[in-house]
Amino acid sequence: MRAQSQVDVGLAMPTLALQRWVIDGLALVRSFNGMRLVSDLQFANNDVPTQIAQIDNMLGKGTKVLIVAPIDGPALAPILKKAADLKVRVISYDRLIRDSPHVDYYATFDNFAVGVLQGTEIVRRLKLPEAKGPFNIELFGGSPDDNNAFFFYNGAMSVLKPYLDSGQLTVGSGQMGMDAVSTQAWSGVTARFRFEKMLEKTYAKQRLHAVLSPNDGIAIELLQALKLKGYGTGGGHPWPVVSGQDADVQSVRSIIRNEQAFTIFKDNRELALAAASMAQAILTNKAPLVNDEKTYNNGVKAMSSLLLKPVTVDVNNWRETLVTSGYYKDHMFR
Ligand code: BGC
Repeated sequence: MRAQSQVDVGLAMPTLALQRWVIDGLALVRSFNGMRLVSDLQFANNDVPTQIAQIDNMLGKGTKVLIVAPIDGPALAPILKKAADLKVRVISYDRLIRDSPHVDYYATFDNFAVGVLQGTEIVRRLKLPEAKGPFNIELFGGSPDDNNAFFFYNGAMSVLKPYLDSGQLTVGSGQMGMDAVSTQAWSGVTARFRFEKMLEKTYAKQRLHAVLSPNDGIAIELLQALKLKGYGTGGGHPWPVVSGQDADVQSVRSIIRNEQAFTIFKDNRELALAAASMAQAILTNKAPLVNDEKTYNNGVKAMSSLLLKPVTVDVNNWRETLVTSGYYKDHMFR
């Protein structure tokens, strides 16, 4: 008989503060329960030492596979070395763990495509390329210690850049590039602080037409700052096109009120199931399902990855995408 605390799969998630990670964690546990595998789910409060300690603890419980959504990927290198010494296999979840050879698989969404969808929808709503503009846009990026943040930003810029080059789009603040626009720890409050200074300085007299917000947590804070400046309150001060990501309940409500323009939905129930199936395959000596071997290199090696598809959600398709699919319940939006 195995010991009570024996764990098959350790699940290290970054934070409980953002709704999506809670959904991921619970969906992972549900998948493993269905497979009759014992999982240990931990959230690290966006704190790197906490995440390392949690993983160490999972190793102590004899876990054979780790599924890790890293807070700061490279910071995990020593603990992943320990995992490898114990023959524990590692699946990088949603975010890539960089700079370690001890990462076996990567399960995620097509993160570059997330950015492309954000850029494309901003362009469509501004009616580019026909509309001459110039339109003012401000850019926000995710956390610089999260590999995804660069993919989101680069994906969006791959669409926006031609319009910035032609002058149809203008970044009023002049702040461009991840060095200038990233947001440590994806903090909405930090992003808002930067935005408020911009609104004071650059947009006291001219209108802001669009904001590239990398996710919903940041979008909601930016929308608050805009509201305090009178945007969205009528009187020739309409909301700029504000993007997002994750389809957080708060943002879906904001979309229904015609405030946030859209979000990018990543069905993390599917991601959880995909990662759980990878773990199950590893535990039964089968080859995990992957569909990409070249897009992601973690700095040490090309990753065997499974990439899922993100979709754009706005006021026209939120119900069908999020409620009919069973992701959310209808009463949440009444
Ligand atoms: C995830 C996003 C999330 C962000 C902040 C990213 O790595 O892909 O879905 O909004 O982290 O937690």
